[in-house]
Amino acid sequence: MTESNYTHTLTMSILTNTEMANFAGNIHGGQLLKLVDEVAYACACRYCGNFCVTLSVDQVFFKKPIKMGQLLTFLASVNYTGTTSMEIGVKVIAEDVTSRTVTHTNSCYITMVATNEKGKTIKVPPYIPTTNIEKKRHTQAQKRRALRLEVNKD
Ligand SMILES: CC(C)(COP(=O)(O)OP(=O)(O)OC[C@H]1O[C@@H](n2cnc3c(N)ncnc32)[C@H](O)[C@@H]1OP(=O)(O)O)[C@@H](O)C(=O)NCCC(=O)NCCS
Repeated sequence: MTESNYTHTLTMSILTNTEMANFAGNIHGGQLLKLVDEVAYACACRYCGNFCVTLSVDQVFFKKPIKMGQLLTFLASVNYTGTTSMEIGVKVIAEDVTSRTVTHTNSCYITMVATNEKGKTIKVPPYIPTTNIEKKRHTQAQKRRALRLEVNKD
């Protein structure tokens, strides 16, 4: 297998239900964040073939409320790899299944670090973007990584 053959995208859909509700009857923000983290985790682990932990979640905006009964789809992709870390982009879209209206509700960037069973960091396969959109995301992810390192330096 060559480096560029590693699966770097993942899609998950879930129908929202009353257990996910907030007091206004929409989807609770924390529920959405949990799902985003899980999707990013699955995308990262499948890409690198190892366990991963969440290092950071970039700023998240809830642009539109998600209503009960809408179909949520999470589109995840590896945007960039460092030595042991991966930036995973997750785009969330909500679909009204009867009208088929689709709304882009959130996008966020999660940094996952590959670790072994003892929690020691391990190298990930380098991600090489091929399409124009992948190259664009890769360049943008590189800038975000530099910003994170600058903002979080001790
Ligand atoms: C993730 C973790 C294993 C990293 O450990 P560490 O000792 O910082 O490891 P390293 O210094 O080797 O850094 C690992 C990667 O994280 C990046 N990183 C570490 N600290 C960072 C920071 N403050 N800002 C941005 N990136 C950072 C490094 O650049 C490195 O990436 P690279 O190898 O691609 O260059 C450790 O911080 C941890 O266990 N955190 C808790 C994870 C967790 O429990 N998550 C669930 C949250 S509830």
